[in-house]
Amino acid sequence: MADERWLDGLVALVTGARRGELGGGGAGIARALASHGAQVVVNDVTEELVAATVGQIQQRGGIAWGIAGDVSAPQDAQRMVDATVEHFGRIDILVNNAALGGLVPAVEHLPDEVWQRQVAIDLSGPFFMSRAALRHMVPRRFGRIVNIGSLAGVRTGFVSGAPYTTAKSGLIGLTRQMALEFAPTGSPSTCSCPPESATRRSCDGARIFSRDETIRSDRSIPKVSLASWSRSSAGGIPDCSPEQRSR
Ligand SMILES: NC(=O)c1ccc[n+]([C@@H]2O[C@H](COP(=O)([O-])OP(=O)(O)OC[C@H]3O[C@@H](n4cnc5c(N)ncnc54)[C@H](O)[C@@H]3O)[C@@H](O)[C@H]2O)c1
Repeated sequence: MADERWLDGLVALVTGARRGELGGGGAGIARALASHGAQVVVNDVTEELVAATVGQIQQRGGIAWGIAGDVSAPQDAQRMVDATVEHFGRIDILVNNAALGGLVPAVEHLPDEVWQRQVAIDLSGPFFMSRAALRHMVPRRFGRIVNIGSLAGVRTGFVSGAPYTTAKSGLIGLTRQMALEFAPTGSPSTCSCPPESATRRSCDGARIFSRDETIRSDRSIPKVSLASWSRSSAGGIPDCSPEQRSR
Protein backbone atom coordinates (compact mmCIF):
# COMPACT_ATOMS: atom_id res chain seq x y z
CA MET A 1 0.00 0.00 0.00
CA ALA A 2 1.52 3.29 -1.13
CA ASP A 3 0.36 5.27 1.86
CA GLU A 4 1.03 2.58 4.41
CA ARG A 5 3.00 4.96 6.65
CA TRP A 6 1.07 8.13 5.99
CA LEU A 7 1.09 9.00 9.69
CA ASP A 8 4.89 8.98 9.82
CA GLY A 9 6.15 11.68 12.17
CA LEU A 10 2.79 12.25 13.84
CA VAL A 11 2.14 11.65 17.53
CA ALA A 12 -1.16 10.13 18.64
CA LEU A 13 -2.58 9.69 22.14
CA VAL A 14 -5.25 6.99 22.52
CA THR A 15 -7.23 6.77 25.77
CA GLY A 16 -8.58 3.51 27.18
CA ALA A 17 -6.25 1.37 25.06
CA ARG A 18 -5.58 -1.48 27.45
CA ARG A 19 -4.31 -4.99 27.22
CA GLY A 20 -3.12 -5.41 23.68
CA GLU A 21 -4.69 -8.26 21.80
CA LEU A 22 -7.15 -8.98 24.59
CA GLY A 23 -8.24 -5.37 24.89
CA GLY A 24 -11.04 -3.49 23.26
CA GLY A 25 -11.26 -1.02 20.41
CA GLY A 26 -8.70 1.34 21.89
CA ALA A 27 -5.88 -1.18 21.65
CA GLY A 28 -6.85 -1.86 18.04
CA ILE A 29 -6.87 1.85 17.24
CA ALA A 30 -3.44 2.25 18.86
CA ARG A 31 -2.07 -0.66 16.84
CA ALA A 32 -3.56 0.69 13.63
CA LEU A 33 -2.11 4.16 14.17
CA ALA A 34 1.32 2.67 14.91
CA SER A 35 1.16 0.46 11.85
CA HIS A 36 0.64 3.60 9.75
CA GLY A 37 3.76 5.17 11.23
CA ALA A 38 2.40 7.24 14.14
CA GLN A 39 4.24 7.36 17.43
CA VAL A 40 1.55 6.25 19.83
CA VAL A 41 0.94 7.13 23.45
CA VAL A 42 -1.20 4.45 25.08
CA ASN A 43 -3.38 5.43 28.04
CA ASP A 44 -5.46 3.41 30.44
CA VAL A 45 -6.13 3.39 34.16
CA THR A 46 -3.16 1.25 35.29
CA GLU A 47 0.46 0.76 34.25
CA GLU A 48 -0.10 -2.98 33.70
CA LEU A 49 -2.97 -2.46 31.28
CA VAL A 50 -0.96 0.10 29.35
CA ALA A 51 2.27 -1.93 29.27
CA ALA A 52 0.71 -4.85 27.42
CA THR A 53 -0.44 -2.72 24.50
CA VAL A 54 2.84 -0.79 24.40
CA GLY A 55 4.80 -4.06 24.34
CA GLN A 56 2.66 -5.42 21.57
CA ILE A 57 3.15 -2.37 19.36
CA GLN A 58 6.89 -2.38 19.99
CA GLN A 59 7.14 -6.08 19.15
CA ARG A 60 5.60 -5.26 15.78
CA GLY A 61 8.23 -2.62 15.15
CA GLY A 62 6.08 0.36 16.10
CA ILE A 63 6.88 3.23 18.43
CA ALA A 64 4.77 3.37 21.57
CA TRP A 65 4.95 4.82 25.04
CA GLY A 66 2.48 4.31 27.88
CA ILE A 67 0.93 6.59 30.42
CA ALA A 68 -1.55 5.59 33.10
CA GLY A 69 -4.16 8.08 34.23
CA ASP A 70 -7.81 8.86 34.70
CA VAL A 71 -9.39 10.83 31.86
CA SER A 72 -12.18 12.00 34.15
CA ALA A 73 -9.75 13.93 36.36
CA PRO A 74 -8.92 17.32 34.81
CA GLN A 75 -5.41 17.48 36.27
CA ASP A 76 -4.65 13.95 35.11
CA ALA A 77 -5.85 14.80 31.62
CA GLN A 78 -3.61 17.85 31.44
CA ARG A 79 -0.68 15.87 32.90
CA MET A 80 -1.02 13.11 30.31
CA VAL A 81 -1.18 15.49 27.37
CA ASP A 82 1.72 17.58 28.68
CA ALA A 83 3.77 14.41 29.27
CA THR A 84 3.05 13.33 25.69
CA VAL A 85 4.41 16.63 24.40
CA GLU A 86 7.39 16.40 26.70
CA HIS A 87 8.16 12.82 25.59
CA PHE A 88 7.58 13.09 21.85
CA GLY A 89 7.76 16.85 21.33
CA ARG A 90 4.19 17.24 20.07
CA ILE A 91 0.65 15.90 19.99
CA ASP A 92 -1.08 15.65 16.62
CA ILE A 93 -3.92 13.19 17.17
CA LEU A 94 -6.10 12.54 20.20
CA VAL A 95 -8.47 9.58 20.19
CA ASN A 96 -10.98 9.81 23.03
CA ASN A 97 -11.82 6.13 23.29
CA ALA A 98 -11.93 5.48 27.06
CA ALA A 99 -15.44 4.86 28.33
CA LEU A 100 -17.42 3.02 30.92
CA GLY A 101 -20.49 1.14 29.72
CA GLY A 102 -22.46 -1.73 31.10
CA LEU A 103 -25.85 -2.38 32.53
CA VAL A 104 -27.14 0.07 35.11
CA PRO A 105 -30.52 0.37 36.86
CA ALA A 106 -33.39 2.18 35.18
CA VAL A 107 -33.58 5.93 35.76
CA GLU A 108 -35.88 5.85 38.78
CA HIS A 109 -33.46 3.52 40.60
CA LEU A 110 -30.21 4.99 39.33
CA PRO A 111 -27.82 5.94 42.17
CA ASP A 112 -26.15 9.35 42.00
CA GLU A 113 -22.66 7.86 42.00
CA VAL A 114 -23.35 5.60 39.01
CA TRP A 115 -24.69 8.53 36.99
CA GLN A 116 -21.84 10.83 38.00
CA ARG A 117 -19.05 8.33 37.40
CA GLN A 118 -20.21 7.31 33.95
CA VAL A 119 -20.89 10.84 32.76
CA ALA A 120 -17.51 11.89 34.20
CA ILE A 121 -15.62 9.24 32.21
CA ASP A 122 -17.71 9.13 29.04
CA LEU A 123 -18.34 12.86 28.55
CA SER A 124 -16.22 15.00 30.88
CA GLY A 125 -13.19 12.80 30.10
CA PRO A 126 -13.19 13.64 26.37
CA PHE A 127 -13.74 17.30 27.25
CA PHE A 128 -10.78 17.41 29.67
CA MET A 129 -8.51 15.53 27.26
CA SER A 130 -9.55 17.64 24.26
CA ARG A 131 -9.10 20.90 26.13
CA ALA A 132 -5.61 19.88 27.19
CA ALA A 133 -4.71 18.72 23.66
CA LEU A 134 -6.11 21.82 21.96
CA ARG A 135 -3.87 23.99 24.14
CA HIS A 136 -0.98 22.45 22.18
CA MET A 137 -2.71 21.96 18.82
CA VAL A 138 -4.21 25.39 18.29
CA PRO A 139 -0.93 27.34 18.55
CA ARG A 140 0.59 24.92 16.02
CA ARG A 141 -2.51 25.17 13.81
CA PHE A 142 -2.58 21.41 13.39
CA GLY A 143 -4.30 18.58 15.20
CA ARG A 144 -7.00 15.97 14.92
CA ILE A 145 -9.41 14.85 17.64
CA VAL A 146 -11.49 11.71 17.22
CA ASN A 147 -14.23 10.99 19.73
CA ILE A 148 -15.45 7.42 19.87
CA GLY A 149 -19.19 7.73 20.20
CA SER A 150 -21.85 5.09 19.97
CA LEU A 151 -25.10 4.44 18.21
CA ALA A 152 -26.50 4.71 21.74
CA GLY A 153 -25.84 8.42 21.38
CA VAL A 154 -28.00 8.83 18.31
CA ARG A 155 -30.85 6.47 19.06
CA THR A 156 -32.45 4.92 22.10
CA GLY A 157 -33.20 1.32 22.89
CA PHE A 158 -29.74 0.25 23.99
CA VAL A 159 -29.31 -1.73 27.14
CA SER A 160 -26.43 0.39 28.43
CA GLY A 161 -28.68 2.79 30.30
CA ALA A 162 -29.22 6.48 30.83
CA PRO A 163 -25.71 7.67 31.77
CA TYR A 164 -24.02 6.03 28.79
CA THR A 165 -26.69 7.09 26.29
CA THR A 166 -26.73 10.64 27.65
CA ALA A 167 -22.95 10.92 27.69
CA LYS A 168 -22.59 9.61 24.13
CA SER A 169 -25.28 12.04 22.93
CA GLY A 170 -23.40 14.82 24.65
CA LEU A 171 -20.18 13.70 23.02
CA ILE A 172 -21.71 14.32 19.61
CA GLY A 173 -22.58 17.85 20.73
CA LEU A 174 -19.06 18.42 22.05
CA THR A 175 -17.64 17.17 18.76
CA ARG A 176 -19.85 19.54 16.75
CA GLN A 177 -18.90 22.46 18.94
CA MET A 178 -15.18 21.73 18.73
CA ALA A 179 -15.43 21.28 14.98
CA LEU A 180 -17.05 24.70 14.73
CA GLU A 181 -14.56 26.39 17.03
CA PHE A 182 -11.36 24.76 15.88
CA ALA A 183 -11.66 23.73 12.24
CA PRO A 184 -10.54 27.22 11.13
CA THR A 185 -7.43 26.82 13.29
CA GLY A 186 -6.54 23.48 11.71
CA SER A 187 -7.77 21.24 14.53
CA PRO A 188 -11.08 19.73 13.45
CA SER A 189 -12.75 16.95 15.40
CA THR A 190 -14.93 14.06 14.38
CA CYS A 191 -17.12 11.53 16.11
CA SER A 192 -17.33 7.89 15.12
CA CYS A 193 -20.54 6.21 16.30
CA PRO A 194 -20.12 2.44 16.07
CA PRO A 195 -23.04 0.15 16.82
CA GLU A 196 -22.48 -2.60 19.33
CA SER A 197 -21.55 -5.21 16.77
CA ALA A 198 -18.85 -3.04 15.19
CA THR A 199 -16.46 -2.78 18.11
CA ARG A 200 -17.20 -5.54 20.51
CA ARG A 201 -14.14 -6.31 22.56
CA SER A 202 -12.78 -8.85 20.12
CA CYS A 203 -13.02 -6.48 17.16
CA ASP A 204 -9.88 -4.82 15.89
CA GLY A 205 -10.34 -1.07 16.12
CA ALA A 206 -8.24 -0.75 12.99
CA ARG A 207 -11.37 -1.55 11.02
CA ILE A 208 -12.94 1.67 12.09
CA PHE A 209 -10.22 3.74 10.54
CA SER A 210 -8.93 1.60 7.73
CA ARG A 211 -11.44 2.54 5.06
CA ASP A 212 -14.84 4.02 4.43
CA GLU A 213 -17.36 1.40 5.18
CA THR A 214 -21.03 1.08 5.71
CA ILE A 215 -22.16 -1.61 8.06
CA ARG A 216 -25.43 -3.14 9.02
CA SER A 217 -25.66 -4.82 12.36
CA ASP A 218 -27.37 -8.15 12.77
CA ARG A 219 -29.91 -6.45 15.02
CA SER A 220 -31.51 -4.35 12.27
CA ILE A 221 -29.76 -1.16 13.27
CA PRO A 222 -29.96 1.37 10.44
CA LYS A 223 -26.95 1.80 8.20
CA VAL A 224 -24.27 4.01 9.64
CA SER A 225 -21.22 5.38 7.93
CA LEU A 226 -18.15 5.11 10.09
CA ALA A 227 -15.46 7.75 10.10
CA SER A 228 -12.40 7.08 8.04
CA TRP A 229 -8.99 8.66 7.98
CA SER A 230 -8.24 8.04 4.37
CA ARG A 231 -6.44 10.85 2.62
CA SER A 232 -9.27 11.45 0.23
CA SER A 233 -11.98 11.54 2.85
CA ALA A 234 -14.40 14.43 2.82
CA GLY A 235 -17.25 15.82 4.84
CA GLY A 236 -15.42 16.92 7.96
CA ILE A 237 -13.53 13.69 8.44
CA PRO A 238 -9.95 14.30 9.57
CA ASP A 239 -7.30 14.34 6.92
CA CYS A 240 -3.75 13.85 8.15
CA SER A 241 -2.11 13.97 4.77
CA PRO A 242 1.24 15.76 4.50
CA GLU A 243 -0.47 18.50 2.45
CA GLN A 244 -2.87 19.18 5.31
CA ARG A 245 -0.13 19.02 7.90
CA SER A 246 1.81 21.77 6.26
CA ARG A 247 -1.19 24.12 6.04
N1 LIG B 1 -18.02 -2.47 22.49
C1 LIG B 1 -19.08 -1.98 21.87
O1 LIG B 1 -19.99 -2.69 21.49
C2 LIG B 1 -19.15 -0.50 21.59
C3 LIG B 1 -20.20 0.02 20.84
C4 LIG B 1 -20.26 1.36 20.56
C5 LIG B 1 -19.29 2.19 21.02
N2 LIG B 1 -18.28 1.70 21.77
C6 LIG B 1 -17.29 2.64 22.26
O2 LIG B 1 -16.01 2.24 21.81
C7 LIG B 1 -15.04 2.59 22.78
C8 LIG B 1 -14.25 1.34 23.18
O3 LIG B 1 -15.16 0.38 23.67
P1 LIG B 1 -14.68 -1.08 24.10
O4 LIG B 1 -15.78 -2.01 23.84
O5 LIG B 1 -13.35 -1.35 23.52
O6 LIG B 1 -14.61 -0.91 25.68
P2 LIG B 1 -13.55 -1.42 26.73
O7 LIG B 1 -14.25 -1.42 28.05
O8 LIG B 1 -12.87 -2.66 26.29
O9 LIG B 1 -12.48 -0.23 26.70
C9 LIG B 1 -12.67 0.96 27.40
C10 LIG B 1 -11.36 1.27 28.08
O10 LIG B 1 -11.46 2.50 28.78
C11 LIG B 1 -10.71 2.36 29.97
N3 LIG B 1 -11.14 3.35 30.95
C12 LIG B 1 -12.27 3.34 31.70
N4 LIG B 1 -12.30 4.40 32.50
C13 LIG B 1 -11.17 5.10 32.25
C14 LIG B 1 -10.64 6.31 32.78
N5 LIG B 1 -11.28 6.98 33.74
N6 LIG B 1 -9.46 6.75 32.30
C15 LIG B 1 -8.80 6.07 31.35
N7 LIG B 1 -9.26 4.92 30.79
C16 LIG B 1 -10.43 4.44 31.26
C17 LIG B 1 -10.98 0.94 30.44
O11 LIG B 1 -10.00 0.48 31.36
C18 LIG B 1 -10.96 0.20 29.12
O12 LIG B 1 -9.67 -0.29 28.79
C19 LIG B 1 -15.81 3.22 23.94
O13 LIG B 1 -15.80 4.63 23.80
C20 LIG B 1 -17.19 2.68 23.77
O14 LIG B 1 -18.17 3.52 24.35
C21 LIG B 1 -18.18 0.37 22.07
